[in-house]
Amino acid sequence: MARIPQSFIDELISRVDIVEVIDARVPLKKHGREFTACCPFHNEKTPSFTVSPSKQFFHCFGCGAHGTALGFLMDYEHLDFVEAVRQLASMIGMEVPQEAGETRSDQAPLYAVLDQAARVYREALRDTAEAVTYLKGRGLSGEIAAEFGIGFAPAGWDTLLKALGGDDPGRQSLSAAGLIIRRDDGRYYDRFRERIMFPIRDSRGRIIAFGGRVLGTDEPKYLNSPETPLFHKGRELYGLYAARQAVRDIQRLLVVEGYMDVVALHQHGLRYAVATLGTATTSEHLQRLFRVTSEVVFCFDGDRAGRAAAWRALENALPEAREGRQIKFLFLPEGEDPDTLVRKEGKDAFEARIKGAVPLSSFLLDRLSAQTDLGSLDGRARLVELARPHLLRLPVGLYREMLVSELARRAQVDSGKLTMLSQASGHGEPARKTIQGGRPSLTGPVRKAIALLLTRPALAALAGDPAALEGLNLKGVEVLKAVLEFARAHPHISGAGLLEHWRDTETGSHLMKLAQVELVIPSEAMESEFQAVMTDLEGRRPAEQRLADLLEASRQRPLEAGEKTELSRLLKARPGDRGGIKP
Ligand code: UTP
Ligand code: MN
Repeated sequence: MARIPQSFIDELISRVDIVEVIDARVPLKKHGREFTACCPFHNEKTPSFTVSPSKQFFHCFGCGAHGTALGFLMDYEHLDFVEAVRQLASMIGMEVPQEAGETRSDQAPLYAVLDQAARVYREALRDTAEAVTYLKGRGLSGEIAAEFGIGFAPAGWDTLLKALGGDDPGRQSLSAAGLIIRRDDGRYYDRFRERIMFPIRDSRGRIIAFGGRVLGTDEPKYLNSPETPLFHKGRELYGLYAARQAVRDIQRLLVVEGYMDVVALHQHGLRYAVATLGTATTSEHLQRLFRVTSEVVFCFDGDRAGRAAAWRALENALPEAREGRQIKFLFLPEGEDPDTLVRKEGKDAFEARIKGAVPLSSFLLDRLSAQTDLGSLDGRARLVELARPHLLRLPVGLYREMLVSELARRAQVDSGKLTMLSQASGHGEPARKTIQGGRPSLTGPVRKAIALLLTRPALAALAGDPAALEGLNLKGVEVLKAVLEFARAHPHISGAGLLEHWRDTETGSHLMKLAQVELVIPSEAMESEFQAVMTDLEGRRPAEQRLADLLEASRQRPLEAGEKTELSRLLKARPGDRGGIKP
C-alpha cells in the first residue's frame, strides 16, 4: 500500500508557500504581516480569512476553518490527503516517491526489535499460568492467540532490557520503538509490565507497536505504544492485516472499538473486524478502509457514549462518503460489546445484526429529524437548517445530490429549492464548528512555548535538552518535548511542517488548536519571550536534580548554549555555600 514517507511531506511543506497556493485560488490582499480575503468556506461580506506567511498557516475567525497548504487544498478542492500531496508536489516540480524504498534504513532496527520483543512476550505467556488462565477465561482459543501473536509482559522492570538491551544500540532501538522509557538519571525501564500484549501490525504485517491490557482492574486498562517513527495511532487499524490475510476479496469491514473485540470476532469467523486504537475514526482511517473494501460498518455500544461516538464517526466520515462507498452504523444492545455478544450468540446471529445496520444517510437524517417536529412547516424548515452544514461536508457529486433529494422529500420542499446545497462548496452557512469570539486565548507556559515554536520553530535551538522537561507534571509537556526534539532535528522546518508531521494524531490536534492562537508578541521579542518561558518551565523541576543532570552532561559532552546559561543560573541560585569562594 502506497504510503508517502513523512520525510517527503516535511520537505514538501518546507518548499511550498501557502500564500501562493491560496492566492492562485482565492485572491489575497496584504494586510500587515498577514494576507486576508473573504473566506472561501463560508459566506461573508467582510474578510475574516487570514493567511500567515510566517506560520504557513490559514485561519478564518468567522467559521473557524484553519490549516496548512495541504489542508487548504484538501478542503478547497475536496482532495484526499494523497491527492493533495500529489497536487502540491506537482505545483513545485517535486516527484512523489513510490512505495519502494519506503523503509528507511534507520527504521530497520526498530522493526527488528519489535519483532524480538513480540517473541519475548509470547514465550513469557507460555511460562505464565496466570496469563494463560486469564485468556482462556475470556474464551480465547490457543489458535487465535497464536495467530494474533498475543503475549505477556511479565512483572518487573527489565524483562526486555535484559533480553534485548544488553548494549547501547539495543537500548537505543528499544527506546525509539517505545518499548523502554528513560529515567531522569539516564537509566531505562520497561514500558509494559504485567500486561497481556497485543502486537499491532502494519498493512504488510510488520509489528509496529503494542497494546497491553492489565490482568486485573488496574488503571489504565489498556496501555498503547507511544507515537514512534513507525507508529501513528490515528492511522492504524488493529486487525486489518489479519483480515486481509484471511479474506482475499473483502466485501465489508466492521470497525469495532477494542482489541478483544477484534480477536473474538475473528475467532468466531467474522474475519473482517478491525479496530481503531482508542481514538475516534479519522479520515485517514477511512481512506485506508476504502482502499480494501467498498462497505464499512461502524459498530458501537448501544449506550449514550456509544451513540455519541457514532455521531463523531459520522462527522469524520462525511468527507469520505460518496457513491460507490457504503457507510453504515450498527448499535449493539446496552451492556454488550462485540466480544461478549459474539460469544453469546455466535456468528450467524451477529451477522444478522450487521445486515440490519443503518446507512449513513438514514442515521444522519433520522437523528436530525428527531430533533424537530416534521409535522409543522417550521420544524421542516429547521430540519433543512440542521442538515445543511453536514451535507456541505460531503464531497460534491451524486451521493450528495441524492441526500439533498432525500432531505427535500422529508422537508416536503421542491429539491430545486435546495440548490444552494447542490452547488460546489463555498456557499451557504459555515460548514464547520464556529469558534465564537475570534481566536482562542493562551494560558500557561507549556501552551505558550508550543505556540511560540509553531510560529518560529527555530526557537527550539535556544532551549536546553528537552529531556529536562521529563517528569514535569504539567499538561502538554510531552507534546512540547516532542515538538522541541523534532524541531531541533529539523532546523529549517516551518510551523506548518510541524502540523503536517503530526497530522491525524492526538499531538497534531493539540498543535492545530495552538496554531490558531494569535501571539501578540513583536517578532524581535520572540526569542527572549521563549527563553523566559523555557527557563520558567525548567525552573519548575527540583533545581538540585536538574543541576546534577547538567553537571553530569557537561562531563560527557560539550553543553549547548541554552544549557550553559541554565547551568550558570542554577549554580548562582544554589542554596547555601559549599565551601566555594565567597564574593
Ligand atoms: P474498552 O474500555 O471498551 O474495553 O476499550 P474493551 O475493549 O471492551 O476491553 P476488555 O474487553 O475489557 O478487555 C476499547 C478500546 O479503547 C482503548 C483500547 O484500544 C481498547 O481496546 N483503550 C481503552 C485504551 O487505549 N486505554 C484504556 O485505558 C482503555
Ligand atoms: Mn470488552
